[in-house]
Amino acid sequence: MICWIKSLEGNPSIRLSVVLLSLFSFLNGAEPADTNYVEAEVPEYRLPKLLKSDLRGPEFVKNWYEKRRPELQALLESHIYGKTPSRDLGPFQTRIVDTDPQALSGSATRKQISIIIDDAQQLSIDLLVYLPNQADEPAPCFMGLNFYGNQTVHADSKIQINPRWMAGKSQIGIKNNRATEATRGVYHERWQIERLIKKGYAVATAYCGDIDPDNYQHDFTDGIHPLFYRDDQSKPDPGEWGAIGAWAWGLSRILDYLIESESAINAKQVAVIGHSRLGKTALWAGAQDQRFGLVISNNSGCGGAALYRREFGERIHHMIKPVGYWFCRNHAEFAHREQDLPVDQHMLLALVAPRPLYVASATQDQWADPKGEFLAALAASPVYELLGKTGLPSPKMSAPNAPVQGTIGYHLRNGAHAVTAYDWEQYLSFADRHFKR
Ligand code: GCU
Repeated sequence: MICWIKSLEGNPSIRLSVVLLSLFSFLNGAEPADTNYVEAEVPEYRLPKLLKSDLRGPEFVKNWYEKRRPELQALLESHIYGKTPSRDLGPFQTRIVDTDPQALSGSATRKQISIIIDDAQQLSIDLLVYLPNQADEPAPCFMGLNFYGNQTVHADSKIQINPRWMAGKSQIGIKNNRATEATRGVYHERWQIERLIKKGYAVATAYCGDIDPDNYQHDFTDGIHPLFYRDDQSKPDPGEWGAIGAWAWGLSRILDYLIESESAINAKQVAVIGHSRLGKTALWAGAQDQRFGLVISNNSGCGGAALYRREFGERIHHMIKPVGYWFCRNHAEFAHREQDLPVDQHMLLALVAPRPLYVASATQDQWADPKGEFLAALAASPVYELLGKTGLPSPKMSAPNAPVQGTIGYHLRNGAHAVTAYDWEQYLSFADRHFKR
């Protein structure tokens, strides 16, 4: 701890707040005692090669799409997130549950739609969409999953309270694993809906637990996994998807719906965004499904944008017990063996290329390894460049609150693990720029 404090760079107030926060979590036992926060103790490592050839120009492009990209995706499937079974259950019926053209004081149209995945199992993705009323053309859209139901993203009294199981969190009004009225709008700051509408963006969100409850005790007996089992199967094979894979699948089904049925949204300008575990999910969704026009990872950390090989902050062995089910079972084989992983997360980020990608970190979120998130984005940049785009505009880790934006954007926000107005300001300017607004 002491040498980590010495090793911290940056201005004294950041240093003090990082130190106090970490001391607090350390004393509370919130972080495992073996967590490394000392830059000098990051092992020497060599990233697995992103590219296997020196091809350039059209030859590179052909090889990338036909060979290397599919290879990298397959590696990430078998070692990190698991393969999504290929059974096609669609097309899914949808039911519009509510439409209000005068929502948010007349500035937006609110729609609530059920995408029915399996009637018998009562599985549906209950989607909330706000469309800007002042729009001359189909609007770009931010789409992402939420942690505790759609009613948490805005205080709008007409948003349906999610009735499904959710992890207990009494301080936001979850009682007996169900959302209560008290949860309405508790996460409005994370979503900034009015601000997005004002800027001409639509917003689409659904509760991750509609797709797969975030609960290790359920052991893949509920959510969408069982719909994909073979007759002899009762849980995913070691190389098959965990919860993140399922959530990413859900994001693609929401995108199907927007493309097929929502003409007020520009289907080529849907930005997938997520925070923390849902940031890992947004990256995996955006990596696999090239229809997403822009991808944003907010504080996604280990198993998200951060490089495993730095062994800084959260590591694979820390995840196994509490949240190993987010990944495929093969992932756990690399506990304490990060250096042997055939992949690292620069490969995940490179799968987003040449589409715009934004990676955001926060100074006090050392558990998510901000520097590892930055370095992964930097190491993904060559693919952007070979595809004719600027990756990260600078190879130097940015100072706090000094965003850089190429076709990859990055910022290190002052403060804690969260999504804030500051983060949205950067995402909006990034999306404005890339969606040419
Ligand atoms: C835990 C977990 C992280 C994750 C975060 C979240 O802190 O260790 O990997 O990103 O939860 O999703 O809130």
